[in-house]
Amino acid sequence: MSFDDYKDRRFESSLKFDRYPHDVMPFWVADMDFQSPQPVIEALVERAKHGIYGYTLPPKSLLETIQQDLKDVYNWEIDTDWIIWLPGLVPALNVAAVAYAAKGEEIISPIPVYPPFLTAPKLRKRKLVTVEAEWRGNEWVLPLENLEVACSEKSRVFYFCNPHNPLGKIYSKAEITEIAEYCIDKGMVFCSDEIHCDLLLEQDAKHIPAASINEKIAQNSITLMAPSKTYNVPGLSCSFVIIPNDDLRRKFKAESVGYFNEINCFGYAACEAAYKYGKPWLEDLKKYLKQNYDLVYKKVSSLSGVDLKPMQATYLAWIEIKDLNLNNAAKHFEYYKIALSDGNPFQGKNHLRLNFATSRERLVEGMNRFEQGVLDALKGIDHSLQ
Ligand SMILES: Cc1ncc(COP(=O)(O)O)c(C=O)c1O
Repeated sequence: MSFDDYKDRRFESSLKFDRYPHDVMPFWVADMDFQSPQPVIEALVERAKHGIYGYTLPPKSLLETIQQDLKDVYNWEIDTDWIIWLPGLVPALNVAAVAYAAKGEEIISPIPVYPPFLTAPKLRKRKLVTVEAEWRGNEWVLPLENLEVACSEKSRVFYFCNPHNPLGKIYSKAEITEIAEYCIDKGMVFCSDEIHCDLLLEQDAKHIPAASINEKIAQNSITLMAPSKTYNVPGLSCSFVIIPNDDLRRKFKAESVGYFNEINCFGYAACEAAYKYGKPWLEDLKKYLKQNYDLVYKKVSSLSGVDLKPMQATYLAWIEIKDLNLNNAAKHFEYYKIALSDGNPFQGKNHLRLNFATSRERLVEGMNRFEQGVLDALKGIDHSLQ
């Protein structure tokens, strides 16, 4: 199957396709419209043919595959004992909240950000403190002065998102080092969500795992990774957290006990096949996503009233719509039969997030609908009020 092909997932209990009426094109949740790499599909078929689906341990070959991959791609040497498996990274954010902060203590998160960063502290009765990212010159920055204002003697955890969903930013080594070391010096655990690390749009772009930078960061951080976004297997519930420090790892494990079952055998099978054999597919995917991004960027830039800052990673475009003066922008665009993510749950006012990981034809159609919604809004038409 090529990235140009489109597989209709309506009526399949797909979260992405079945949340909205079926004539609305979904450009919201971070789930791509592409089939996973062929070796992943084959590994799942093989595992299914086995016929016995008992409780499963992480295969040694999978652990070694991840270890090798981190070494090859990031020059990051890990011990396989540092890996903890979880059915998702949202659970990992929640576990980190209770493992490293006591009730009433603070968790600091950048904003705008993937909404579970903001809900996890509250759900776990920890205090959420936010630090706003700013567009300065020609890039998004998480200014140290904003961080200094946010931090207190009660701050225990910093949630970092790199590449940053929804800004599409890749943090540089200098930025990561400055932010991480500042947080660590203030007594925080640096919780680095790197789920989008493989989805880089430029050929020469580089992702740097925070924990690979130096021993101080390694010993005071936890790194969240998964094959789910990169290889489009989020429904298989297979994610992992890497914790080099024994004490932090013990605390994380202690707080996870009793909440999660073992990862299922299909998740492990897909994960191993993806990291071992999925790279050629990933290279093609990144080229396709870059062309889609260019198309979205060009279209948004050609319109008045909306703005998209250049992005370097992910397939999630963060579009500013302030000048459209809409009461409820996501609802307005639903009238034009496109579902976009509302920026408010990300604590990003006046923004919509658009998932462009779909076939080119569908993206062109979606962007035409978006354009119509923008042009009407500029004439004062607001369908969210009707
Ligand atoms: C930054 C970030 N973390 C975590 C997740 C979701 O992780 P999971 O599905 O493994 O819970 C997403 C999904 O979009 C994400 O963007």
